[in-house]
Amino acid sequence: METTAVKPQFSEAAQAEIKRLLTHYPDDRRKSALLPVLHIAQAEFGGWVSPEVQNLVAEVLDIKPIEVYEVSSFYTMFNLKPVGKHVLEICRTGPCMLRGSDELTAHLERITGAKVGGPASADGLFTLKEVECLAACGFAPIVQVREKYYEQLDTPDAVDAMLSELRNQVHRPALPWEETGLPNALARN
Ligand code: FES
Repeated sequence: METTAVKPQFSEAAQAEIKRLLTHYPDDRRKSALLPVLHIAQAEFGGWVSPEVQNLVAEVLDIKPIEVYEVSSFYTMFNLKPVGKHVLEICRTGPCMLRGSDELTAHLERITGAKVGGPASADGLFTLKEVECLAACGFAPIVQVREKYYEQLDTPDAVDAMLSELRNQVHRPALPWEETGLPNALARN
């Protein structure tokens, strides 16, 4: 029997935030809100933006889907494939590399079982990604997880403390615009 995919929908809280964002721009410049709306979409739909979710973003902003794909595929902060509960963005640029980001990556792959650029760990908790400079070189090596930076991860203890904090996180921290209600993703995460 043929199944029809359910079209994704933003939660009421997200819709309200998108409406508020759009008041910052002229009606014929709705595309200017593309980056923040993609962030909302990613937070809402399990930490990644599927083609269907990107089409929804295009619809909301009244732009062509290709205009969304161009942006989502350019910036590393948008995930185009399913991810684990926590996406660990490991900085691999010069200063972090000199302070051991290669060893850090290998260590994280060993401990979590996930591979950089590959699927999430078997327990669904961790996805590993390499990214360029996170602008915190003085605290290298750095890993970013959502809005939080984990700094000076050059000892096993520091890495263990980060992983244990993330493992114990029941829900991801709420974003400012989520205070008014639980969006789709929070109910699942
Ligand atoms: S090189 Fe890693 S934060 Fe700048």
